[in-house]
Amino acid sequence: MYFKRGITTRQAHVDIPEGTVEEEFAREGFSGRASHLYRKEAPLLWSEIEGDLRPHALELEELPGLGGADYLEGRVPFLRNSDAKLSMARVVRPMDYDFRNADGDETLFVHTGQGRIETTFGPLEYETGDYLVLPRGTSYRLDPSEPTELLIIETAGEVTIPDRGLLGHHALFDPDVIEVPHPQAREREVEDGKWRLKIKRQDRITTVTYDHDPMNVVGWKGDLTVWQLNIRDIRPISCDRYHLPPTAHATFVARDVVIATFLPRPLENGDPGALKVPFYHANTDYDEVLFYHDGDFFSREGIEPGMVTFHPQGLPHGPHPKAIEAAKNKTRTEEKAVMIDTRRPLELTEAAKGVSQPDYWSSWSR
Ligand SMILES: [Fe+2]
Repeated sequence: MYFKRGITTRQAHVDIPEGTVEEEFAREGFSGRASHLYRKEAPLLWSEIEGDLRPHALELEELPGLGGADYLEGRVPFLRNSDAKLSMARVVRPMDYDFRNADGDETLFVHTGQGRIETTFGPLEYETGDYLVLPRGTSYRLDPSEPTELLIIETAGEVTIPDRGLLGHHALFDPDVIEVPHPQAREREVEDGKWRLKIKRQDRITTVTYDHDPMNVVGWKGDLTVWQLNIRDIRPISCDRYHLPPTAHATFVARDVVIATFLPRPLENGDPGALKVPFYHANTDYDEVLFYHDGDFFSREGIEPGMVTFHPQGLPHGPHPKAIEAAKNKTRTEEKAVMIDTRRPLELTEAAKGVSQPDYWSSWSR
Protein backbone atom coordinates (compact mmCIF):
# COMPACT_ATOMS: atom_id res chain seq x y z
CA MET A 1 0.00 0.00 0.00
CA TYR A 2 1.34 3.38 -0.97
CA PHE A 3 0.52 6.58 0.90
CA LYS A 4 1.45 10.21 0.41
CA ARG A 5 1.08 12.97 2.96
CA GLY A 6 2.28 16.57 3.12
CA ILE A 7 4.91 18.24 0.91
CA THR A 8 6.61 15.78 -1.46
CA THR A 9 7.94 15.50 -4.99
CA ARG A 10 6.46 13.24 -7.69
CA GLN A 11 9.76 11.72 -8.83
CA ALA A 12 12.14 10.65 -6.04
CA HIS A 13 15.54 12.43 -6.18
CA VAL A 14 14.23 15.06 -8.62
CA ASP A 15 12.77 18.55 -8.01
CA ILE A 16 13.10 18.38 -4.24
CA PRO A 17 10.64 20.95 -2.80
CA GLU A 18 12.23 24.34 -2.06
CA GLY A 19 13.58 24.53 1.48
CA THR A 20 13.62 20.77 2.04
CA VAL A 21 16.06 17.89 1.79
CA GLU A 22 15.12 14.34 0.86
CA GLU A 23 15.84 11.27 2.97
CA GLU A 24 15.24 7.74 1.76
CA PHE A 25 13.94 5.47 4.51
CA ALA A 26 14.13 2.00 3.03
CA ARG A 27 14.34 -1.73 3.61
CA GLU A 28 16.66 -4.26 1.96
CA GLY A 29 19.25 -1.67 1.01
CA PHE A 30 17.58 0.20 -1.83
CA SER A 31 15.37 -2.51 -3.35
CA GLY A 32 12.68 -3.10 -0.71
CA ARG A 33 9.79 -1.04 0.67
CA ALA A 34 10.69 2.62 0.97
CA SER A 35 9.40 6.04 1.83
CA HIS A 36 10.91 9.42 1.07
CA LEU A 37 10.89 11.97 3.84
CA TYR A 38 11.08 15.69 3.06
CA ARG A 39 12.72 17.53 5.94
CA LYS A 40 13.52 21.15 6.66
CA GLU A 41 17.09 20.31 7.71
CA ALA A 42 19.44 17.47 6.85
CA PRO A 43 19.02 14.56 9.28
CA LEU A 44 22.73 14.68 10.17
CA LEU A 45 22.87 18.09 11.81
CA TRP A 46 23.08 16.73 15.34
CA SER A 47 24.76 18.78 18.05
CA GLU A 48 25.51 15.96 20.53
CA ILE A 49 25.72 12.17 20.44
CA GLU A 50 25.89 10.26 23.71
CA GLY A 51 26.43 6.53 23.53
CA ASP A 52 28.57 4.46 21.24
CA LEU A 53 26.49 4.67 18.04
CA ARG A 54 28.18 7.10 15.66
CA PRO A 55 29.71 7.27 12.20
CA HIS A 56 33.44 6.69 11.99
CA ALA A 57 36.27 7.67 9.66
CA LEU A 58 39.23 5.33 10.06
CA GLU A 59 42.84 6.18 9.18
CA LEU A 60 43.73 2.63 8.13
CA GLU A 61 47.34 3.52 7.30
CA GLU A 62 47.82 4.17 11.04
CA LEU A 63 46.58 0.74 12.17
CA PRO A 64 49.05 -0.67 14.72
CA GLY A 65 50.91 -3.72 13.43
CA LEU A 66 50.08 -3.03 9.77
CA GLY A 67 52.85 -4.29 7.52
CA GLY A 68 54.57 -6.57 9.99
CA ALA A 69 57.14 -8.94 8.53
CA ASP A 70 54.65 -11.82 8.47
CA TYR A 71 51.59 -11.64 6.20
CA LEU A 72 49.17 -13.18 8.68
CA GLU A 73 50.38 -11.14 11.63
CA GLY A 74 50.61 -7.96 9.58
CA ARG A 75 47.02 -8.01 8.30
CA VAL A 76 44.96 -6.07 10.77
CA PRO A 77 41.18 -6.53 11.14
CA PHE A 78 39.23 -3.30 11.63
CA LEU A 79 35.55 -4.30 11.39
CA ARG A 80 33.85 -7.64 11.84
CA ASN A 81 30.63 -9.55 12.36
CA SER A 82 29.65 -13.20 11.87
CA ASP A 83 29.37 -12.76 8.07
CA ALA A 84 32.31 -10.51 7.25
CA LYS A 85 35.70 -9.53 8.55
CA LEU A 86 37.47 -6.53 7.02
CA SER A 87 41.24 -6.19 7.33
CA MET A 88 44.04 -4.12 5.87
CA ALA A 89 47.41 -5.64 4.96
CA ARG A 90 50.72 -4.23 3.75
CA VAL A 91 52.83 -6.94 2.11
CA VAL A 92 56.45 -6.02 1.47
CA ARG A 93 58.23 -9.39 1.34
CA PRO A 94 57.33 -12.66 -0.39
CA MET A 95 55.56 -15.10 1.92
CA ASP A 96 57.68 -18.13 2.83
CA TYR A 97 54.60 -20.34 3.20
CA ASP A 98 51.25 -20.91 1.52
CA PHE A 99 48.05 -19.80 3.26
CA ARG A 100 44.56 -21.29 3.19
CA ASN A 101 41.52 -19.72 4.80
CA ALA A 102 39.03 -22.34 5.97
CA ASP A 103 36.82 -19.71 7.65
CA GLY A 104 35.56 -18.01 4.53
CA ASP A 105 36.07 -16.69 1.03
CA GLU A 106 38.61 -13.90 0.69
CA THR A 107 38.24 -10.98 -1.68
CA LEU A 108 41.54 -9.09 -1.84
CA PHE A 109 41.34 -5.59 -3.28
CA VAL A 110 44.77 -4.32 -4.37
CA HIS A 111 44.84 -0.71 -3.16
CA THR A 112 48.49 -0.21 -4.19
CA GLY A 113 51.33 -2.35 -5.52
CA GLN A 114 51.89 -5.23 -7.87
CA GLY A 115 53.31 -8.72 -7.88
CA ARG A 116 52.35 -12.33 -8.23
CA ILE A 117 49.87 -14.49 -6.39
CA GLU A 118 50.33 -18.26 -6.56
CA THR A 119 47.14 -20.24 -5.98
CA THR A 120 45.94 -23.83 -6.03
CA PHE A 121 44.70 -23.16 -9.58
CA GLY A 122 47.91 -21.50 -10.79
CA PRO A 123 49.56 -18.08 -10.57
CA LEU A 124 48.28 -14.63 -11.55
CA GLU A 125 50.15 -11.33 -11.92
CA TYR A 126 48.27 -8.74 -9.89
CA GLU A 127 48.33 -4.94 -10.00
CA THR A 128 46.67 -1.92 -8.40
CA GLY A 129 42.89 -1.96 -8.82
CA ASP A 130 42.56 -5.75 -8.96
CA TYR A 131 39.98 -7.74 -7.10
CA LEU A 132 41.32 -11.24 -6.37
CA VAL A 133 38.48 -13.52 -5.27
CA LEU A 134 39.72 -16.65 -3.48
CA PRO A 135 37.06 -19.24 -2.64
CA ARG A 136 37.20 -20.71 0.87
CA GLY A 137 39.82 -23.47 0.95
CA THR A 138 42.03 -22.05 -1.81
CA SER A 139 45.75 -22.01 -0.97
CA TYR A 140 47.71 -18.94 -1.97
CA ARG A 141 51.04 -17.20 -1.57
CA LEU A 142 51.80 -13.54 -2.24
CA ASP A 143 55.06 -12.53 -3.88
CA PRO A 144 55.00 -8.73 -4.24
CA SER A 145 57.34 -7.04 -6.72
CA GLU A 146 56.25 -3.70 -5.20
CA PRO A 147 54.99 -3.09 -1.66
CA THR A 148 51.36 -4.07 -1.79
CA GLU A 149 48.46 -2.75 0.27
CA LEU A 150 45.38 -4.93 0.36
CA LEU A 151 41.86 -4.42 1.59
CA ILE A 152 40.81 -7.93 2.64
CA ILE A 153 37.12 -8.79 2.71
CA GLU A 154 36.60 -12.17 4.33
CA THR A 155 33.05 -13.52 4.01
CA ALA A 156 31.51 -16.59 5.60
CA GLY A 157 29.28 -16.89 2.52
CA GLU A 158 30.36 -17.70 -1.02
CA VAL A 159 31.28 -14.71 -3.22
CA THR A 160 29.31 -14.62 -6.46
CA ILE A 161 28.36 -12.16 -9.19
CA PRO A 162 24.99 -10.46 -8.55
CA ASP A 163 22.07 -11.06 -10.87
CA ARG A 164 22.04 -8.27 -13.46
CA GLY A 165 18.34 -8.71 -14.15
CA LEU A 166 17.07 -6.67 -17.09
CA LEU A 167 20.55 -5.23 -17.71
CA GLY A 168 21.70 -8.61 -19.01
CA HIS A 169 24.80 -10.69 -18.37
CA HIS A 170 27.28 -8.31 -19.98
CA ALA A 171 26.43 -5.15 -18.08
CA LEU A 172 29.02 -3.56 -15.79
CA PHE A 173 31.52 -6.12 -17.00
CA ASP A 174 31.51 -8.96 -19.50
CA PRO A 175 32.36 -12.30 -17.83
CA ASP A 176 35.14 -12.51 -20.43
CA VAL A 177 37.18 -9.80 -18.63
CA ILE A 178 37.59 -12.01 -15.55
CA GLU A 179 41.01 -13.67 -15.56
CA VAL A 180 41.49 -17.14 -14.06
CA PRO A 181 44.81 -18.88 -13.37
CA HIS A 182 46.53 -21.39 -15.61
CA PRO A 183 48.31 -24.17 -13.70
CA GLN A 184 52.09 -23.87 -13.67
CA ALA A 185 54.81 -25.71 -11.73
CA ARG A 186 56.59 -23.54 -9.17
CA GLU A 187 60.36 -23.17 -9.39
CA ARG A 188 60.77 -21.78 -5.90
CA GLU A 189 63.45 -23.18 -3.58
CA VAL A 190 62.16 -23.85 -0.07
CA GLU A 191 64.23 -23.95 3.09
CA ASP A 192 65.20 -27.53 4.09
CA GLY A 193 63.03 -28.93 1.27
CA LYS A 194 59.88 -28.45 3.34
CA TRP A 195 56.76 -26.79 1.94
CA ARG A 196 54.64 -25.21 4.64
CA LEU A 197 50.92 -24.48 4.42
CA LYS A 198 49.25 -22.41 7.12
CA ILE A 199 45.52 -23.05 7.47
CA LYS A 200 43.21 -20.68 9.32
CA ARG A 201 40.15 -22.25 10.90
CA GLN A 202 38.13 -20.42 13.55
CA ASP A 203 40.88 -17.80 13.51
CA ARG A 204 43.47 -20.32 14.73
CA ILE A 205 46.44 -21.29 12.56
CA THR A 206 47.55 -24.87 11.87
CA THR A 207 50.74 -25.50 9.89
CA VAL A 208 50.88 -28.53 7.60
CA THR A 209 54.27 -29.49 6.10
CA TYR A 210 54.90 -31.38 2.87
CA ASP A 211 58.09 -32.79 1.34
CA HIS A 212 56.77 -31.77 -2.08
CA ASP A 213 55.06 -28.67 -3.45
CA PRO A 214 51.39 -29.03 -2.44
CA MET A 215 50.42 -26.66 -5.28
CA ASN A 216 51.03 -29.45 -7.76
CA VAL A 217 47.84 -29.08 -9.80
CA VAL A 218 48.58 -29.70 -13.50
CA GLY A 219 45.06 -29.08 -14.76
CA TRP A 220 41.63 -28.10 -13.52
CA LYS A 221 38.10 -27.65 -14.86
CA GLY A 222 34.89 -26.41 -13.31
CA ASP A 223 33.11 -23.26 -12.23
CA LEU A 224 34.74 -22.74 -8.81
CA THR A 225 38.10 -21.01 -9.08
CA VAL A 226 40.08 -17.85 -8.37
CA TRP A 227 38.86 -14.70 -10.14
CA GLN A 228 40.86 -11.63 -11.05
CA LEU A 229 38.90 -8.53 -12.04
CA ASN A 230 40.47 -5.10 -12.44
CA ILE A 231 38.23 -2.11 -11.76
CA ARG A 232 39.24 -0.53 -15.10
CA ASP A 233 37.24 -3.34 -16.73
CA ILE A 234 34.08 -2.37 -14.83
CA ARG A 235 31.81 -0.05 -16.83
CA PRO A 236 29.50 1.63 -14.33
CA ILE A 237 25.94 2.37 -15.35
CA SER A 238 24.74 5.92 -14.92
CA CYS A 239 21.68 7.97 -15.71
CA ASP A 240 21.64 11.52 -17.03
CA ARG A 241 18.44 12.44 -15.21
CA TYR A 242 18.22 10.31 -12.07
CA HIS A 243 20.62 9.49 -9.22
CA LEU A 244 20.95 5.72 -9.17
CA PRO A 245 21.15 3.94 -5.80
CA PRO A 246 24.55 2.52 -4.80
CA THR A 247 23.30 -1.01 -5.34
CA ALA A 248 23.47 -0.26 -9.09
CA HIS A 249 27.26 -0.50 -8.61
CA ALA A 250 27.29 -3.96 -6.94
CA THR A 251 30.25 -6.04 -8.11
CA PHE A 252 30.06 -9.12 -5.86
CA VAL A 253 27.61 -10.50 -3.34
CA ALA A 254 27.95 -13.01 -0.53
CA ARG A 255 25.40 -14.04 2.10
CA ASP A 256 24.28 -10.82 3.81
CA VAL A 257 27.20 -8.88 2.29
CA VAL A 258 27.32 -6.67 -0.83
CA ILE A 259 30.59 -5.44 -2.37
CA ALA A 260 30.15 -2.49 -4.74
CA THR A 261 32.61 -0.39 -6.76
CA PHE A 262 32.16 3.34 -7.35
CA LEU A 263 34.04 4.47 -10.43
CA PRO A 264 34.49 7.60 -12.56
CA ARG A 265 31.22 8.39 -14.31
CA PRO A 266 29.13 11.33 -15.49
CA LEU A 267 26.88 13.06 -12.97
CA GLU A 268 23.21 13.83 -13.51
CA ASN A 269 23.63 16.61 -16.07
CA GLY A 270 20.42 16.19 -18.03
CA ASP A 271 17.97 17.77 -15.59
CA PRO A 272 18.76 20.72 -13.32
CA GLY A 273 16.25 19.34 -10.78
CA ALA A 274 17.96 15.95 -10.45
CA LEU A 275 20.09 15.31 -7.36
CA LYS A 276 23.80 15.02 -8.19
CA VAL A 277 25.13 13.74 -4.90
CA PRO A 278 23.91 10.75 -2.88
CA PHE A 279 20.55 11.43 -1.26
CA TYR A 280 20.35 11.20 2.53
CA HIS A 281 19.41 7.69 3.52
CA ALA A 282 18.64 5.82 6.70
CA ASN A 283 20.55 2.59 7.21
CA THR A 284 17.68 0.47 8.35
CA ASP A 285 18.89 -2.94 7.21
CA TYR A 286 22.60 -2.60 6.39
CA ASP A 287 25.79 -1.23 7.93
CA GLU A 288 27.83 0.62 5.32
CA VAL A 289 31.62 0.71 4.91
CA LEU A 290 33.30 2.78 2.21
CA PHE A 291 36.98 2.29 1.36
CA TYR A 292 38.44 5.22 -0.56
CA HIS A 293 40.85 3.94 -3.19
CA ASP A 294 41.69 6.80 -5.55
CA GLY A 295 40.44 9.97 -7.22
CA ASP A 296 38.37 12.80 -5.87
CA PHE A 297 35.81 11.79 -3.23
CA PHE A 298 33.16 14.30 -3.98
CA SER A 299 30.60 13.40 -1.33
CA ARG A 300 33.03 13.64 1.61
CA GLU A 301 35.45 16.27 2.83
CA GLY A 302 38.72 15.44 4.56
CA ILE A 303 38.94 11.93 3.14
CA GLU A 304 42.19 10.60 1.68
CA PRO A 305 42.91 7.39 -0.27
CA GLY A 306 43.33 4.43 2.08
CA MET A 307 40.73 5.69 4.55
CA VAL A 308 37.44 4.06 5.45
CA THR A 309 34.15 5.52 6.59
CA PHE A 310 31.77 3.36 8.59
CA HIS A 311 28.09 4.29 8.87
CA PRO A 312 26.26 1.91 11.19
CA GLN A 313 22.56 1.06 11.18
CA GLY A 314 20.44 3.43 13.23
CA LEU A 315 21.85 6.73 11.97
CA PRO A 316 21.14 8.23 8.55
CA HIS A 317 23.95 9.49 6.35
CA GLY A 318 24.50 11.50 3.21
CA PRO A 319 26.67 14.14 1.60
CA HIS A 320 28.45 16.95 3.40
CA PRO A 321 26.87 20.39 2.79
CA LYS A 322 30.04 21.62 1.05
CA ALA A 323 29.95 18.59 -1.26
CA ILE A 324 26.42 19.49 -2.35
CA GLU A 325 27.59 23.01 -3.14
CA ALA A 326 30.71 21.78 -4.95
CA ALA A 327 28.72 19.28 -7.05
CA LYS A 328 26.56 22.00 -8.61
CA ASN A 329 29.19 22.90 -11.21
CA LYS A 330 30.58 19.40 -11.65
CA THR A 331 29.70 17.23 -14.60
CA ARG A 332 31.63 14.09 -13.59
CA THR A 333 32.91 12.29 -10.53
CA GLU A 334 36.39 10.80 -10.61
CA GLU A 335 36.01 8.78 -7.40
CA LYS A 336 37.20 5.18 -7.07
CA ALA A 337 35.92 3.49 -3.95
CA VAL A 338 34.86 0.07 -2.68
CA MET A 339 31.68 -0.22 -0.61
CA ILE A 340 30.92 -3.13 1.69
CA ASP A 341 27.36 -3.34 3.05
CA THR A 342 26.54 -5.91 5.70
CA ARG A 343 23.13 -6.92 6.98
CA ARG A 344 24.34 -7.70 10.49
CA PRO A 345 25.94 -4.99 12.63
CA LEU A 346 29.72 -4.67 12.39
CA GLU A 347 31.92 -4.11 15.43
CA LEU A 348 35.04 -1.97 15.37
CA THR A 349 38.13 -3.83 16.52
CA GLU A 350 40.30 -2.32 19.25
CA ALA A 351 42.88 -1.42 16.58
CA ALA A 352 40.19 0.42 14.60
CA LYS A 353 39.01 2.39 17.65
CA GLY A 354 42.53 3.77 17.93
CA VAL A 355 42.54 5.16 14.37
CA SER A 356 39.01 6.59 14.32
CA GLN A 357 38.90 10.36 13.77
CA PRO A 358 37.41 11.69 17.01
CA ASP A 359 35.28 14.44 15.49
CA TYR A 360 34.00 12.77 12.30
CA TRP A 361 30.49 12.45 13.79
CA SER A 362 30.16 16.25 13.92
CA SER A 363 31.65 17.01 10.52
CA TRP A 364 28.29 17.68 8.81
CA SER A 365 27.32 20.51 11.14
CA ARG A 366 30.56 22.45 10.76
FE1 LIG B 1 25.07 4.94 2.00
